[in-house]
Amino acid sequence: MKRIAVLTSGGDAPGMNAAIRAVVRAGLEKGYEVFGVEQGYTGLIAGRFRPLGARDVGGILQRGGTMLGSARCPEFKEHDVRLKALHELGAKGIDGLVVIGGNGSQTGANALSAMGFPVVGVASTIDNDLYGTDVSIGVDTALNIALENIDRLKVTASSHRRAMLVEVMGRDCGYLALMAGIAGGAEAVVIPECETDPEIVATEIRRAYARGKPHAIVVVAEGAKPNAHGLAQYVHEQEARLGFELRVTILGYVQRGGAPTFADRMLASRLGSAAVEQFAAGNHGVLVGIRNGEIATTPLPEVVAGKKQIDAGLLELARVLAK
Ligand code: ADP
Ligand code: F6P
Repeated sequence: MKRIAVLTSGGDAPGMNAAIRAVVRAGLEKGYEVFGVEQGYTGLIAGRFRPLGARDVGGILQRGGTMLGSARCPEFKEHDVRLKALHELGAKGIDGLVVIGGNGSQTGANALSAMGFPVVGVASTIDNDLYGTDVSIGVDTALNIALENIDRLKVTASSHRRAMLVEVMGRDCGYLALMAGIAGGAEAVVIPECETDPEIVATEIRRAYARGKPHAIVVVAEGAKPNAHGLAQYVHEQEARLGFELRVTILGYVQRGGAPTFADRMLASRLGSAAVEQFAAGNHGVLVGIRNGEIATTPLPEVVAGKKQIDAGLLELARVLAK
């Protein structure tokens, strides 16, 4: 193997830049030429490659986002479109591709790998819904941003004796909501993995006031059914009966835009470098992640087929600590 390429795909995640830097510098150390692909799979099928040297990735370690750009590229699901990608990789003489991204991106990586091209995935998504890794690049930063905002909302909620619904991202996964709920001291957590009756959420809020709390914070995952808007509508319609005032804050994209924390810089540096190690050892077709603090590889077909489960013990912890 002489030439490798790296791309970032799907929703950007804080730490992607640190991972790009690690792939480039670890790749140079192994004697590879390294190329960056612009805008994920969109750039791959358009042949938008640029050589990356050690200085080209200087000053990005501490920056959120991705210097290569990212994209959603639905047409990559088509076999013929992926053939075009293989053609572009061949034309540039690339022998291996590192795909930094989440669930969808690793599904694309698996499809490319199944067509015979050496691919290694790096786990990166704020959603933490990727099978094969305990935690993905970007999760820690997104959670810290959510916590900073929950802390602020608690202050104003207490002043007005209000209830606050805080909606966090995570697509179909409740991980961010559950963890932000525990570490942010929420009175309730609403996630897609558990069925939610709005009346039960309202009852939890009323109980919190009855226990003498000056506020009630409910962290809601964007994928929950009902989501924050649905829950708020229910409460507003019944405000006179329920006896509390409620406001909604959708955190949205602010969770993706932060500078990576120490944990994300370290994780990205380790995973990016480990991806290169895979190629150097003659391995590919795997996702590089972290399990029990150690680098762990999982075959891409397993990653795509697997479903990450929510920890029932943490759900119980959220309930107990909300007293
Ligand atoms: P993430 O990687 O953050 O989960 P997406 O789900 O949007 O983000 O996926 C990113 C990209 O991965 C998609 O826009 C598409 O290009 C590619 N992708 C997703 N699913 C598939 C699939 N089944 N086959 C091939 N490529 C896919
Ligand atoms: O996958 C990361 C994520 O931020 C999800 O939490 C969210 O549902 C989605 O991306 C938003 O996607 P887009 O950037 O395409 O609006």
